[in-house]
Amino acid sequence: MTQTLQAAFEKTKSELTVTTEKLEEITNHFVEELEKGISPAGGNIPMNPTWVMDYPLGSETGEYLAIDLGGTNLRVIRVTLQGDSKFKSVNEKYPIPVPMRTGNKDDLFDFIAKSLDDFIKHQYGEDYKGEKLPLGFTFSYPAHQNAINHGVLQTWTKGFDIPGVEGHDVVPMLQASLDKLNTPVEVVALINDTTGTLVASKYCDTETIMGLIFGTGCNGAYYDFAKNIPKLEGKLASDINDKTPMAINCEYGAFDNDWKVLPRTKYDIQIDQESPRPGQQFYEKMIAGYYLGEVLRLILLDYYSQGLVFINQDIKSLQVPFAMDTSFPSMIEEHGPEYAGRLFKDTFNITLTKEEEKVISDLCQIIGTRAARLSVCSIAGICRKMNYKSGHCAADGSVFNRYPYFKERAAAALNELFKWNTDPNDYPIKLTHAEDGSGVGAAVIACLTEKRLLAGKSVGAKL
Ligand code: BGC
Repeated sequence: MTQTLQAAFEKTKSELTVTTEKLEEITNHFVEELEKGISPAGGNIPMNPTWVMDYPLGSETGEYLAIDLGGTNLRVIRVTLQGDSKFKSVNEKYPIPVPMRTGNKDDLFDFIAKSLDDFIKHQYGEDYKGEKLPLGFTFSYPAHQNAINHGVLQTWTKGFDIPGVEGHDVVPMLQASLDKLNTPVEVVALINDTTGTLVASKYCDTETIMGLIFGTGCNGAYYDFAKNIPKLEGKLASDINDKTPMAINCEYGAFDNDWKVLPRTKYDIQIDQESPRPGQQFYEKMIAGYYLGEVLRLILLDYYSQGLVFINQDIKSLQVPFAMDTSFPSMIEEHGPEYAGRLFKDTFNITLTKEEEKVISDLCQIIGTRAARLSVCSIAGICRKMNYKSGHCAADGSVFNRYPYFKERAAAALNELFKWNTDPNDYPIKLTHAEDGSGVGAAVIACLTEKRLLAGKSVGAKL
């Protein structure tokens, strides 16, 4: 490695390293921000009450439809809850055309309705004339809810930017598109993917304390008690008692938007400034899959501008924003430096020197490690807020499932915070693999909602 490239790499490494002390500082701030979020004044973290006011028992049964909107694909799922914590499901994926993510709202909702209509014809036959099928709509963006079947989009995240949706309830938009096609579906619940993950995982594993997504975006949900949420004071119906739970969709991707503690680098700042929503989702922009490849790309472009890498090479195709998705750093870390060489040649027609291959591969490790370590501050923050000493944090998402060593690094960082001094297999707070939150979770929530309605219980705020 040349002296200067080595020096630049060492500098990046130290900027991206998160020490135990820093983890501690961030976690402490997290606890304060979680509390602020549920206070009437609010804070950076929205802490959205979801009006999911039951724990799943595992005995729920019935057949439900769910859709999952939140990333690259729309997924439509038919779920049969069998009781005994078991379920069956079939699903189909419909890729969301890229221009639709920043296009017209009617196109998006008509596309969802058409996909659902096709799925129903396929699953139930062309001439299905039965009762309206209950649908759980998993909408994985921050939404303020006054009731379970209601959700006003607060801000688009993860690169979506469709005018006319922020500030509006998305449930009637979907229902209107379905009604235009006479699709026999009724949207009974609007669900965040993390809430779905929490409920689906608890349906199968009673020790679940959190539902987490480390994917294109990042976020978490947990159960609080409805009466412990100061901002709901005066809004709870009379059937709510001291023991009534309330799932909270934290939306903690927005943590530290006023930038008090996060060790943001110039690359993180650039990503934010060039995003459709500058000033938002500071935490998410450092750890979520939508951004990790972009961090790598910006570091390399910085080195290039200093004449440290890709000398005399045409780097035009690397100059395209988001030219590398998270599979780049994740696959490079998995397969090593030579793989980086092949990938850069095949994708960008850039020939890497051995030194460059090594630096890129080391950068991928550092980027992945930073993401995993920062990720646990949210988990530790929720545990401290709720005084959880043990339990399962059910996680899902491409970064959690596919970025090499993410789980191990996250578990190690949690141990640094909690100082358990035991074998990793015995850590009392464990990261576990979640059940399909957007499908099964949405179905369980739809079922719990139907039961509440039948029992005459509230499913939203007091009017
Ligand atoms: C959204 C959350 C979602 C998370 C994971 C974030 O960008 O704001 O609602 O849970 O991504 O999908």
